[in-house]
Amino acid sequence: MKILAIESSCDETAAAVVEDGRKVLSSIIASQVDAHIVYGGVVPEIASRMHAEAISGVVSQALEKAECTLNDIEAIAVTYAPGLIGALLIGVNFAKGLSLSSGLPLVPVHHLRSHIAANYITHEKLEPPFLSLVVSGGHSHIVNVKSYTEFEIIGRTMDDAAGECMDKAARALGLPYPGGLNLDKAAKDGDPKAYKFPRPKVDGNEMNFSFSGLKTSAVNAIHNAKQKGEEINLADFGASYIHAVVGCLTANMKKAIEKTGAEKIVLAGGVSANSVLRSEFDKLSKDLGIELYYPELKLCGDNAAMVGAQGYFEYISGKKADLNLNAYATMPIDKADF
Ligand code: KG4
Ligand code: ZN
Repeated sequence: MKILAIESSCDETAAAVVEDGRKVLSSIIASQVDAHIVYGGVVPEIASRMHAEAISGVVSQALEKAECTLNDIEAIAVTYAPGLIGALLIGVNFAKGLSLSSGLPLVPVHHLRSHIAANYITHEKLEPPFLSLVVSGGHSHIVNVKSYTEFEIIGRTMDDAAGECMDKAARALGLPYPGGLNLDKAAKDGDPKAYKFPRPKVDGNEMNFSFSGLKTSAVNAIHNAKQKGEEINLADFGASYIHAVVGCLTANMKKAIEKTGAEKIVLAGGVSANSVLRSEFDKLSKDLGIELYYPELKLCGDNAAMVGAQGYFEYISGKKADLNLNAYATMPIDKADF
């Protein structure tokens, strides 16, 4: 069964054709990085306007590359939440128009569910249940994935997301947008013990995160050094900081594994591309003797192939939207049911 998938939640306009939730027949991404780089981050209105310009061409290319027409497609999956509202609305409305004109069913897909589903493409035998660490620009969750369409949040950030934490420090260090990726590269040969950062503690649920103190301490250290005319060693500072962020993620995931008895863990979201995160989780999974999965690099960031993967599982579980479908800036992963 072929699904046409559309993604426009942030700064990538993407479309893909995916077969049976696992096989990518085409995946087209029009990135807006060049337009936002001068502002040091995503400008929502520019993002919406660029989606409006790109979406028709991107969808046509996805169908063409998959050697399909709409007659070969069984359903249209679209990201409807969470994300930038103006950006989401472009994809949702385009998908609704296609659904109306073609008569194809419309399947709403939650963005974070699709980040997890990127792993079904990379690992064709991977099946729930498993524990997932979802780390993106706007979210940091530990999720118990009970089935392809049932999710339970067991840990979450109380303030900033891990990606936001990476991006803000990168920006203060003068690195270009997208910050997380450039910080990862700059820190490659750095000494992770050179600088000290606080490891924040959260009251209550020990699997929750707090990153804002860590982020503020990095930004303050950078500003203080500038004021005093002291030089910061970029590689050492970056490596120490990334290890501090990743240390919080691995520590809480370890507690979650112990608490749930999970035997499989799955990394998802843009930050799962981080080289330190991957190697620290490799170590953790070996130490604990559990299976570890993460998406291939090209599926870590926003793309529509992952939307086609999750869209397939949502569709066969009976999820369908009508033409009243709306977009939502926020939507908990465990509540995205119709
Ligand atoms: O999932 P994603 O592409 O978009 C959202 O749904 O938010 O995640 C984007 C986030 C950004 O904060 C970006 O800096 C971060 O993922 N990111 C990275 C790396 N690549 C992307 N963070 C650390 N290391 C990377 N290699
Ligand atoms: Zn994302």
